[in-house]
Amino acid sequence: MKGIIFTEFLEMVEEKFDYQMVDNIITDAHDPLDGAYTSVNTYDHAQLVNLVIALHKRSGIPLPDLLRTYGEYLFGGLAKNYPELLKDIKDPFDMLLNIEILIHTEVRKLYPEANPPQFTGNQLDEKTIELIYNSHRSMGDVAEGLIHGCGAHFGVNFNVKQTEIDNNGQTVKFRIEKI
Ligand code: HEM
Repeated sequence: MKGIIFTEFLEMVEEKFDYQMVDNIITDAHDPLDGAYTSVNTYDHAQLVNLVIALHKRSGIPLPDLLRTYGEYLFGGLAKNYPELLKDIKDPFDMLLNIEILIHTEVRKLYPEANPPQFTGNQLDEKTIELIYNSHRSMGDVAEGLIHGCGAHFGVNFNVKQTEIDNNGQTVKFRIEKI
């Protein structure tokens, strides 16, 4: 998985806890790189999972909460690093319903080794959409945080519910309502 997903995670830990916590989880997770990730390289997704579990054990914060908070933080980092992908989008629903075409397809072109999750969606009414997440990495809680981060980016608050979860979280359906 792309290094930006790792570098943003460690940056969030430093910001929301402190550098000592970064150091501790790198030690606890037996991180082979000692935290020396760069945003453009590619790393084993399992190592991110080890770091997240280490943070969960040290902080006592439930894993879904940590992953959602991380997802929200990550959106800010992605938006900062890839402003050209966002510049023509005016509404968060336009972005979420077209994430495949507007965002992750571009990511695959930029980085052929990247393997971002797949999304399909449809509009239920003016204020509500449904989005289906698919990935072997089972990072639906991170997706939920990213959805909130996307709303915040456009100044919109969302009520997000995970309505169906299959295959150990590899498929997650979200109902997203503008509030
Ligand atoms: C500017 C916007 C975005 C950019 C540039 C972007 C880019 C990326 C990149 C580079 C990865 C790593 C893929 C890999 O290395 O294999 C990724 C993963 C991911 N993206 Fe996006 N993304 C964006 C927005 C979003 C949004 C809004 C969502 C949620 C609806 C989302 C959901 C995810 C999730 C959950 C992952 C983790 C990997 C997985 O679940 O398989 N992304 N994205």
